[in-house]
Amino acid sequence: MRVDILTLFPEIIHAYLKESIMKRAIGIGAIEVNVINFREYTTNKHGRVDDYPYGGGPGLLLMIQPIYDALNALPDKNRKVILTSPAGTPFTQKVAQRLKDEEHLVIICGHYEGVDHRVTEYLVDEEISIGDYVLTGGELAALVILDAVTRLLPNVLNKEESHQTDSFSMRLLEYPQYTRPRDFKGMKVPDVLLSGDHGKIARYRKKEALRRTYLKRPDLLENYPFTEEELALLQEVIKEESKDEK
Ligand code: ADE
Repeated sequence: MRVDILTLFPEIIHAYLKESIMKRAIGIGAIEVNVINFREYTTNKHGRVDDYPYGGGPGLLLMIQPIYDALNALPDKNRKVILTSPAGTPFTQKVAQRLKDEEHLVIICGHYEGVDHRVTEYLVDEEISIGDYVLTGGELAALVILDAVTRLLPNVLNKEESHQTDSFSMRLLEYPQYTRPRDFKGMKVPDVLLSGDHGKIARYRKKEALRRTYLKRPDLLENYPFTEEELALLQEVIKEESKDEK
């Protein structure tokens, strides 16, 4: 996959690409990322990329011209242009799954108070929001999208890191996990995980995944395709949790 990121702060993006799994994904050619400072495309003689809004109001808006010209310099076959914006489609694992099949993503990082609406209307295929809060700029949002999509690409994660068992791929939150030592200052690992009984461990994990989801994200259970065993485990969880409340 090719990803072009249009930003006024390329260093923020480069810093993230240099480390860990993003670095590996680029190294093996699973993804090619180009970071483009669209200030370089402005025709304004002072290098400006923003201006006051027509009709008045506070703040500055990104102008269409530098973004238009930066996009024009990129190949346009089979590309999908995304604008990061708090007004966009909420970004979820499902959206990441859909984007991973794209050949070429262009992510425009919004900034300042906003962007001339003609960018959204004429140049962008989809606006994406990473949550109901307002960031100072779109760089973090672009990195969130890039990271979530990259880890879904073939060969980026090894088997142990695999996303098949993750929260949200399974549509339940992850079960709690523990590593050495067994006892840290009296904080103990649950006995069942040390039992060596794989059936028991699997049942424990499923039940605890259901418990966490029930307690923290009950909305995820609304459309969950329960097996009979899972339904029985959930009934146990509900009973246990209602007992704890009393
Ligand atoms: N830019 C500012 N806030 C944002 C958000 N929540 N999501 C995406 N882009 C943004």
